[in-house]
Parts: sequence; structure tokens; C-alpha cells
Amino acid sequence: MQDAEQQIDRLREQIRQHDYRYYVLNDPALSDYEYDQLMNRLIQLEKAHPELMTPDSPTQRVGGEPTSQFPAITHDVPMLSLGNTYSQEELNDFEKRLQNLLPDETVEYVAELKFDGIAVSLVYRDGLLVQAATRGDGIQGDDITANIRTIRSIPLSLMRQEHPGRGKSAQGGHPADIEVRGEVFMPRKAFAKLNQKQLANDEKPFANARNATAGSLKLQDPKMTAARPLHFFAYFIRVLGTGNNAGGIRPAHLENLHLLRELGLPVSRHVALCRSIWDVVDFCNTWEEKRDELPFEIDGVVIKVNSLRQQEQLGSTAKSPRWAIAYKFKAKQATTLLRKIHLQVGRTGTVTPVAELEPVFLAGSTISRATLHNEDEIRRKDIREGDSVLIEKGGDVIPKVVKVIEEKRPPETRRFEMPVRCPVCSGPLVRAEGESAVRCENIACPAQVHRRIEHFAARGAMDIEGLGNALILQLVESRLIEDYADLYTLKKEDAAALERMGEKSAQNLIHAIQESKSRPLDRVVFAIGIRYVGSTVASILADHCGSMDALIGASRSELDAIDGVGPTISESIGHFFAQEHNIVVIDKLRAAGIRMSGERKAKKSGIFDGCSFVLTGTLDRMTRQAASELIESEGGKVTSSVSKNTSYVLVGQNPGSKYQKAQDLGVSLIDEDTFISMLEKSKKRPFPKDSQLAIEI
Ligand code: IVH
Repeated sequence: MQDAEQQIDRLREQIRQHDYRYYVLNDPALSDYEYDQLMNRLIQLEKAHPELMTPDSPTQRVGGEPTSQFPAITHDVPMLSLGNTYSQEELNDFEKRLQNLLPDETVEYVAELKFDGIAVSLVYRDGLLVQAATRGDGIQGDDITANIRTIRSIPLSLMRQEHPGRGKSAQGGHPADIEVRGEVFMPRKAFAKLNQKQLANDEKPFANARNATAGSLKLQDPKMTAARPLHFFAYFIRVLGTGNNAGGIRPAHLENLHLLRELGLPVSRHVALCRSIWDVVDFCNTWEEKRDELPFEIDGVVIKVNSLRQQEQLGSTAKSPRWAIAYKFKAKQATTLLRKIHLQVGRTGTVTPVAELEPVFLAGSTISRATLHNEDEIRRKDIREGDSVLIEKGGDVIPKVVKVIEEKRPPETRRFEMPVRCPVCSGPLVRAEGESAVRCENIACPAQVHRRIEHFAARGAMDIEGLGNALILQLVESRLIEDYADLYTLKKEDAAALERMGEKSAQNLIHAIQESKSRPLDRVVFAIGIRYVGSTVASILADHCGSMDALIGASRSELDAIDGVGPTISESIGHFFAQEHNIVVIDKLRAAGIRMSGERKAKKSGIFDGCSFVLTGTLDRMTRQAASELIESEGGKVTSSVSKNTSYVLVGQNPGSKYQKAQDLGVSLIDEDTFISMLEKSKKRPFPKDSQLAIEI
């Protein structure tokens, strides 16, 4: 019993620690699989010992029954909104107002991102999350506690804190009862995936990530909310009740952001302390430009006076505080005329409809084209030539058409019909069952030939400098090349005879083409343009197969068994090599001297060169498999038994007999912390970031 309790405590702590590393520090230490294993063990133990269940157990994120209504909650301190500014002048005015209200004082500002999500209030009593509410009208919001509990970046219990000089405080180490405010949002990629799922299930997609967030928080069944990829950033903390400051709220806003993070809450790291409004303007300009690089949407910057004393002195109007203001970015949407729907043929034959627009200036650049994705999308939005459309610049560089402005539709427009013939080669267009894309199946279609060569020569592929779009078009149109392998037999005189070329440019081109022969196998595998084989998959394939011939000869099941290669990819590879002309082109490449096999990977080398390790016991922060991989990646090897030749024995919890043997033989014993610090000293991050899952904070 005692043992179960200890195990349960340990598992909960491990899971909490992982959530913290994953969501707050953005530095995961466990794989999803390992995490699930911990969770499953905990679920089993709690089932066997229901008396040991606590409300803040990580298994209790989804609990309770669906509600038909969310009870109302009155905010004891209203959730105000912010005044908006749109220009540098208005920011200057803000500063002037503050100078008038606080004569002879210097004011420091904190600039933060303005997350485009839904504001929520969280109440922690005795360190436990007891209530979560929406902003509502600022005075009264909805109780959405059950839904908020499903968001894994929001801790169900606060992390304990050491107060300097006081040791652990009387409240068990966390501040007194507190309210935390912040923004719930859905990262961009997760939103796109959710919308794909909605479409696949014949459900209406959400207009944007903010709507998806709002909808997710208002679902009546928390189990459904749990399946929504929501995230949270905290930006405000206050002590509840009497106003005594037992919790150690700090005198400046920036320090309180640190406090929030120390308590285990996710806080964005894109924050700046600004000593003047000029610094603020810089921050605003920087993020207005870089906003698309963030994994989530922002719609501006929030500027706050750093000193809490000054904040209090400034106070609020009925609607918004005087100590803070929002700087709103320029709109990323505009309306314009859709002149024509044009069909673009890609290198694998996929035909993509593109909108040709009346050029319009939008958030920093002139837009004259927008993607329309596919036939279904056009039909769903009923987009027609001649329509006025709302366009949006999203995370992608290519803008998209959000919707048609129906009131402005001129008479005599026609519904879009996908042509049955390729606009470039007049070959038949085919739409495979279950796919939304239409494809031109004529591999000799000049548009495809062009795109294939473009892909082949691109950076990341064969990287042929100076072989750009216009030149490829000339080469193809003049029939000097019919496929990318022909590049290697191109003669200087022929190239020089092209319009706008000349001797010197032709010389450079031929040189660049010849130089590309030294590209390694993985680049070649990527460059030949197999559908679904991007640069990462190409490298996996090159490593695994070692040569082009082995790749060509690999069976479907052999390919499927490779980590990182799924059935769609393996089918596409099979399809590619089953086409005779592809084999012919590859033979031409081979004859031209392109690399068709890989070099054996050099043995890894690093701080453990020549060292041998033995592992014993259970490690806390990683699996033994992960530790072994780290050792090998640093040039060491792992063996199973201790001898006098063993360099180190890595000792975890409950070590076995190897521990004793190592002591007897006088072999160095190291614990996990020492091991990790050895790796850290080597400047190698022991816990690689999982870029797909982790979100930047
Ligand atoms: S501070 C009184 N900080 O913007 C101060 N708000 O119009 C109130 N928001 O309702 C909020 N990011 O939903 C603050 N870093 C940030 C924010 C932020 C987004 C939202 C929040 C609020 C609205 C204010």
C-alpha cells in the first residue's frame, strides 16, 4: 500500500515534470510513447487504489459529464479590454499621457505579443486549479473549468516555490490563492489539421484559429475539448482576497511573468523590457514583420507599464487600464476583384487552380495571385471569375481566398467547372477516387517537364546555380533538353546561342551543372522528384538503401518497414520506378556520372570516443535506450557486462549486481545527473526538441 502510494506520487510528479518541460520550457525529455507508458501505469495504479485519487492527478484532466449550460461567474476584478493604437504617433501620445500623469518619473514598459485567442481567468486555491472562466462581457463570464482542465499546458496544480530566506512557505511552497489570466489559442499547424479533419468528417471548417478556439472552449463535452489542440500563455497574476501579499507577487510586471513561469505556467518568451517608447516601436515593427514566423497567430503587441506601483497610480477608466495599450497590426485581409481562374500544372502533374487578382496592397506587399487549392474548395466557396473576393495573408506566403462578397457579384457569372483537358498539353485530366486533386497524366506535358527540371535544379536538390525559371523555359522551348538528365549533355555553344545568354553566362551554367555532379545520394533521391519524397524522406531512404539500385529494387514491404516511410510514400516510390521512362532518365544520370550510391556513414565521434559504458538500474529522465543512443552519438559504446575495460557504469534507481561488480573492479560510477552534465558540457543538447510537437514559447 505504502509502495503504491509512493509509486503513484512518483508517476504523477514525473508526468507533471514532463508537461512542464514540454509545454513551458519547450524542451521535452520523453518520447510520446514513454509518456503514454507513464500515464498508463498511473491509470492502472489509480484503478487499483481509488482511495488514492486526487483532483490534480494528471489522469483527471478529462472528468465529469457533459454540461448543457455553463454556470455564470462574476469576476471580482473586471476583465478590462485595452485601448487600441495603430501608429507610431499614437504610441507617442500614449507616452505623453503617462508623462502628464506621472510627472518627473521614468516609466519602463514591457512589450508582449498580443495573442489572437480567447482570454480566460484561472483561479488556484491552495495551489490547485479550482475555477476557470471566460471573459464574457468583462464583468461576468462562463464557468468552463472542465474544458480548461483538458489543456495540458495549464497545470492542475502549481509548482512549489522556495521563497528566498523563508524556505518553503507556510502555504506549502506556492503563493496564496491567486488568479491567473491569459490567452487560450490554437497553434497554426494544429488549426490547419483540425480543419482538414472537419472537412474529412463532412463538418464545417472554422473560419480561423480564434473561432476554432472559442468553439472548442464552449463544447459541452470536455472529452471533445480534450481532442482539440489548445494551448495557453499566461500574462497576469494577482493574489485573491485580503490583499496581503503572502504569495510573493513581485513589484514589477516582468518579474511576475517570471513568477508565473516558476509556478509552472507557460509564458511567452517573446517579451521585451523597454526603457523608452522607441524600444516599444522597435518591438512592434519587428513583430509586425516577423509575425508569420510564429507558430501561432498574433494580432498586435500589448504594451504595459512595468512598475505595479505606477500601474496602481495610473488606474483605469471604465473600459480599460491607463497603464496598458494595444498596438494593432495592419489588417492582413483585403477585398479585390478575381479576374480569372488559372490552372497551374505541377511537376507531378497535379493541377492547382490559382486566382488571378486585381493587384492589391496587403500587409506590406502587392498581391496579384492567390491559391484556390482544388476543385472542391472552389465549389464549396462558390468562387467565380468576376467575383469580388476577400483575401487573406496567412502564415503561408501565398495568400488565400477567404470568401466571395456575394452582394458584389455581377450578373452573368458562371459556376466554376474543372476542364477535362490539361490547359498546357490538352491531355486528359484525371481525378482519382478519394482524392481532391486533378492530375494531368501526360508525363511529357511541357508544364510538368519544366517543373521537374526546376525542382531538380533547386537549392536543397542538385543546387545548380543560375539555372532559374526563365532559363529552364528557354531550354525546354528550344528543345535543347527534354528531361533533367539532358542538362549534363548540354553543350556550351547551344546554351550560348540562347537569347540573352552569351559566352560567359553559358560557361558559368555548364560549370554549375558539372559541379552539381558531386551532390550526395540523398540529394539525388530528392531531386529526381518522386511524389511525397521530400528532402527528409530522401535522406532516410538514402541512408537505408545505400544506393539508387537498392532503392529501385526495394519491395513495398521493405520500404514500409523503414521508420519515417509510410504506405503512401512506398506506393509512390513503387509507382515511380515502375515507369520505364523514369528508369531511362536515371540511367542517363548514371552515365553522366551522377552519384548513385552513398558513402558509408562515418562512425560518430564526440566526448565519449573510445569509452565503453554499462547501464544498470532505472533512469529518471530518459529510457535506457535513449541513454544508449546518446552515448553512441558521442562516439561511445554500450556493453552489457562490466569488466576492467569498462569506462563508466551509469547507475540508475535500484541498480543490479553490475553495481557491486563495478565497485569491486574500481570502475567509475556515474549517476544520471553527472551523465547529463557531461553531455551538456559537450554542448550537445541531451534532449533534442521535437519540432513537430513542441511549440515555441
Ligand atoms: S493584458 C487589462 N496581454 O487582448 C489588461 N491581453 O483587448 C488586459 N490579449 O482581452 C489584458 N494578448 O484577450 C494582455 N499579452 C497580452 C495579451 C492580451 C492578448 C487579449 C486579451 C484581452 C484583449 C485586450
